[in-house]
Amino acid sequence: MNTQMTTDTAPTTTAKPVLQASGVVMRFGGLTAVNNVDLTVGEGEIVGLIGPNGAGKTTFFNCLTGLYVPTEGTVTYKGTVLPPKPHLVTQAGIARTFQNIRLFANMTVLENVLVGRHTRTNEGLFSAILRGPGYKRAEAESREKAMELLEFCGLANKAQHLARNLPYGEQRKLEIARALASEPGVLLLDEPTAGMNPQETRAAEELVFAIRDKGIAILVIEHDMKFIFNLCDRTAVLVQGQKIVEGDKETVQNDERVITAYLGAPLEGAAEGTSTTAGTEDDQ
Ligand SMILES: Nc1ncnc2c1ncn2[C@@H]1O[C@H](COP(=O)(O)OP(=O)(O)OP(=O)(O)O)[C@@H](O)[C@H]1O
Ligand SMILES: [Mg+2]
Repeated sequence: MNTQMTTDTAPTTTAKPVLQASGVVMRFGGLTAVNNVDLTVGEGEIVGLIGPNGAGKTTFFNCLTGLYVPTEGTVTYKGTVLPPKPHLVTQAGIARTFQNIRLFANMTVLENVLVGRHTRTNEGLFSAILRGPGYKRAEAESREKAMELLEFCGLANKAQHLARNLPYGEQRKLEIARALASEPGVLLLDEPTAGMNPQETRAAEELVFAIRDKGIAILVIEHDMKFIFNLCDRTAVLVQGQKIVEGDKETVQNDERVITAYLGAPLEGAAEGTSTTAGTEDDQ
């Protein structure tokens, strides 16, 4: 086994940084789940984050989105250090989806997206109680925007369905629609294609490209290597909490440490166009 676990932190992007993590460390008691990770997502970029199960990918996302306060390090969004509270992070412009889907199961698809918009609506509590003209106008506008997002994500015909009745793949799309409702500058996707069939996965790829084309930068965790290498301008690899390499498809696929971390086969399969899942989904 190659013991050379040096971090390769050289920036490989010239795009203006949107999201920037510097020296992020997350410890749980004696376990260092994220170890001194630097990562930048630039304007217009789709950046991948891969690594074996338990590598620290979701924990790193949690550090980026205020769910965890990193033990060390800083996270900035467009040059400003983020407040360590999830709703303030969302308000600042960072949206995410979860590895374990977190929808309001008994609300409709449309209502789930409306909930995602609340950080962008100015109408306060009194206005909502009084239901005056300002509130009604804002509500109508919110519904219109939410429907546009459902259209964009291919869910408009399911607007009135309960979220819990959607097939798994569509629930993932709904999570994306809800995240987009907060009008983010960067979107973090944690295993967006887990549980999707190959057609749904290809559609999800198109959706991610379309989101990027709206001017939203993307950071995506996935075990499906074909998905990652089709989409990403740059991919970082986490192993045991450390970023061992970051670069384009060729750099990552040919890196010996990455091949060792994945026990050889998966990344080679991806180069030939086969969908490769280097891990199993669990509920986090
Ligand atoms: N809240 C927590 N308390 C203690 N340990 C945790 C906590 N969250 C995560 N861990 C541990 O941190 C390590 C990294 O977990 P994490 O979920 O970030 O991995 P991952 O790369 O997302 O894996 P997967 O691909 O399976 O989703 C694991 O050993 C996990 O058990
Ligand atoms: Mg995870």
